[in-house]
Amino acid sequence: MNSNSAAWIDSPYADLTVRQAPVPTPGPGQLLIAVRAVAVNPLDAIIQSNGAVMYGWLRYAVILGEDVAGVVIGTGTGVDDFAVGDRVVAYAMGLEKGRDAVSESGFQEIVVVEAGLTAALPTAVSFEDGVVLPLALSTAAAGLFEEGQLALDFSRLGGAPPRDEVVVIWGGATSVGGNAIQLARAAGYRVITTASARNHDLMTRLGAEAVFDYRDPRAVDRIVAEVGGSRVAGILAVAVGSAEPSLRIARATGATKIAMASPPVSFYDQPRRRGFSLARIRLFLTLGTRTALLQVRSRSRGITPSFIWGSAIAASPVGPAIWGRYLPAALASGEHRPYPQARVAGRGLAAVQHAIDTLRDGVSAQKLVISLDEAQRGS
Ligand SMILES: NC(=O)c1ccc[n+]([C@@H]2O[C@H](COP(=O)([O-])OP(=O)(O)OC[C@H]3O[C@@H](n4cnc5c(N)ncnc54)[C@H](OP(=O)(O)O)[C@@H]3O)[C@@H](O)[C@H]2O)c1
Repeated sequence: MNSNSAAWIDSPYADLTVRQAPVPTPGPGQLLIAVRAVAVNPLDAIIQSNGAVMYGWLRYAVILGEDVAGVVIGTGTGVDDFAVGDRVVAYAMGLEKGRDAVSESGFQEIVVVEAGLTAALPTAVSFEDGVVLPLALSTAAAGLFEEGQLALDFSRLGGAPPRDEVVVIWGGATSVGGNAIQLARAAGYRVITTASARNHDLMTRLGAEAVFDYRDPRAVDRIVAEVGGSRVAGILAVAVGSAEPSLRIARATGATKIAMASPPVSFYDQPRRRGFSLARIRLFLTLGTRTALLQVRSRSRGITPSFIWGSAIAASPVGPAIWGRYLPAALASGEHRPYPQARVAGRGLAAVQHAIDTLRDGVSAQKLVISLDEAQRGS
């Protein structure tokens, strides 16, 4: 393939525009992928809504997108585990500091990815179904297993004997949460989680032993009662606003670690434009106040809250444990289900902007996916 097309964001806050992009070259340890499906994440919407306030290192024009599935069309030096023609799913790292937010970002026809953050996709799993995984799975793994997060034992992932230790996941129906349920179970832990009532059966099928509605004012009490006297190994606070109830659970159960995937306020709640606005000032004031309060209220009780950075696994032993050893086998055996369910929101790169806008309105146990099959690439 000697031409490439991408959905570019040309400047902070701008809509995505589809046009030509350079054909990237894989470096050592990297793969070149012909992309067949991408998924949108809250991160894409948040970066677009916040301009240079977040991810200030980006030099526009750049390309968003973290989740890709497709076919290997080239390999860099030192790659032994993949060959041209392999069907794969991969975490595109372009938006991270020090990476290339053009060649390594997902919303394009041809992308460069790290072989170490790529897994073979079984033929039974479509590109659309598989592409829901990368950022969500990586973030779940970072929160559960990284030193400085919950630091759970992942040494026998997939073959771990059950242990009488509980992991509480606030927001089990989120993309991150549904993967965290499966990973925590694969590591041998018991899981208690929260979700809307319509998703309770689904959470149970993923491996949660008990599920409570996060809108129930008594959800914290019910979770504490469910824990009984068992040791709580850690609490994963996934959804926006999860830290507060997670702290109450920690205080009541004696848990000492809370790993948070989200800030205490939604970054969607502001206009998508440059400059000061009342909404933006209010958001950052609330963010600062709630974060400071959380730190004080946690530390005074010996509880350590930490903020998860999903990409951390790229530079730690968690990355190879998840992407190299666990995921390929667990996908092939069906032990790890692609979660959440893919909802194809359009075909061709021109559909990505609409999918991001749709995500801002909220989804329930679904991932918005864009199909880039051969006929529709770039259109
Ligand atoms: N720090 C990082 O590295 C990192 C990486 C990825 C994502 N994140 C953040 O993690 C959060 C989740 O991302 P995602 O992609 O997993 O989200 P998502 O799949 O879009 O989450 C949708 C789900 O959120 C659930 N939800 C909404 N409000 C909730 C609440 N108050 N309590 C519990 N669950 C609630 C809903 O559950 P029901 O349908 O059951 O109501 C819904 O199914 C986002 O804030 C995202 O920005 C952080």
